[in-house]
Amino acid sequence: MAERRRSWAEPFKIKMVELLKTTTPEARRHAIEQAGWNTFLLRSEDVYIDLLTDSGVSAMSDRQWAGMMRGDEAYAGSANFYHLRDTVEEIYSYRHTVPTHQGRGAEHLVSKLLIKPGDFVPGNMYFTTTRLHQELAGGAFVDVIIDNAHDPADPHPFKGNIDLEKLEALRARVGAERIPYVSLATAVNMAGGQPVSMANLRALRAWCDEHGIPIVHDMTRVAENAFFIQQREAGYRDRQVRDIVHEICALTEIATMSAKKDALVNIGGFLAMNDPDLYRRACDLVVVYEGLHTYGGLAGRDMEAMAIGIRESVDDNHIRARVGQVEYLGALLDRAGVPIVKPVGGHAVFLDARRILPHIPQHQFPAQALAAAIYLDSGVRSMERGAVSAGRDKETGENYMPSLELVRLTIPRRVYTQAHMDVVAESVIEVAGNAGQILGLRFAYEPEQLRFFLGRFEPVSPA
Ligand code: F0G
Repeated sequence: MAERRRSWAEPFKIKMVELLKTTTPEARRHAIEQAGWNTFLLRSEDVYIDLLTDSGVSAMSDRQWAGMMRGDEAYAGSANFYHLRDTVEEIYSYRHTVPTHQGRGAEHLVSKLLIKPGDFVPGNMYFTTTRLHQELAGGAFVDVIIDNAHDPADPHPFKGNIDLEKLEALRARVGAERIPYVSLATAVNMAGGQPVSMANLRALRAWCDEHGIPIVHDMTRVAENAFFIQQREAGYRDRQVRDIVHEICALTEIATMSAKKDALVNIGGFLAMNDPDLYRRACDLVVVYEGLHTYGGLAGRDMEAMAIGIRESVDDNHIRARVGQVEYLGALLDRAGVPIVKPVGGHAVFLDARRILPHIPQHQFPAQALAAAIYLDSGVRSMERGAVSAGRDKETGENYMPSLELVRLTIPRRVYTQAHMDVVAESVIEVAGNAGQILGLRFAYEPEQLRFFLGRFEPVSPA
């Protein structure tokens, strides 16, 4: 007899709560105008359910809080650093760890250490800060993700995979000596939180070995990627997420981590590697930009919470419920006919703003307008991931026009309940149903770098 299907439930109970504030339509209209139609510029006090990001917004466990009290706040050689370093080696396989204040601190260091002006850095879709640090170091990012990733409706189970033919074409064109590394992200954020398969990773490893090119692994959401391998890839059904995480990491030799995501902390990150010589050079650089190599801009207590969070993050029960909650929200929207990126990814549900707002041309930023409209409807905060985030080409000054024009409903870990997901779905369904009323936007102020953070907009009157 087939086993009865059961729902997932949160593998924790709640010990402390933070009261939410509801907002009125008038207050929301005032707030979004003050914020220049940019959800990044809203005050969190004016937000009801905050799905801006999954970064630094997780709820820590009682064990992590207890760890905070065991902070060894020594300038040099903190006990918490050694705990973190040993945990990274045990769970992720990397032998050397350089703490950084967050992910982009590690991206800054690795880009400076490995990229020379004129280099090309291939990767499975860009991430905003990652690409910017590659460019600031003199490199040019080249997207080598499979074409399926650019189509929101394509159900491919591993839309994060690298297209090895694209990679080989780049090598044939510029030569291996101008490719300092392959920038490989697991659970590719901008593609919709889409995983890379182990088979693809092994093929990439073989290609890199053949050409003497290292892999820099953006492991920010590696546990979520490992969960999808367990669920979708032949031969992994009976393997624990923890083992799969280790196997992924062991196929790469350098990693950057924003511990604010997978690793369940509010601040922190690291650069990790196996090569002792690269480690020594990274230590020389971290003291310039972040802090001594045994704290890298973090308090001892932050490193302790991170070490404990890493262990919790690779637990099967944790990750099943985490991704289960994201899939739950995705299924509510999908059933109601709201166009979303499929399959639903690990950290967020992405709305396809192109299809929801066909009347707004991409240069009037439909995803930015949709995020503002959802906020106006219910106080739910989401984020644009489309043309505004993509920015401009450094050489030509032209706007990038990415094929994906998305709004991200990002789910913090262990923070909201299923009822919150119901409320979010109701609001998005309502807004999508009345989408014809939404106006496009234009920049009122456009920052030079990472313009999505601080840019301001104004509605464009209908022609
Ligand atoms: N890499 C990926 C894949 C990320 O998603 C992020 C941050 C970073 C690197 C940079 O890390 O923020 O710690 O400096 N993503 C956040 C987000 C900001 O909302 O997606 P950081």
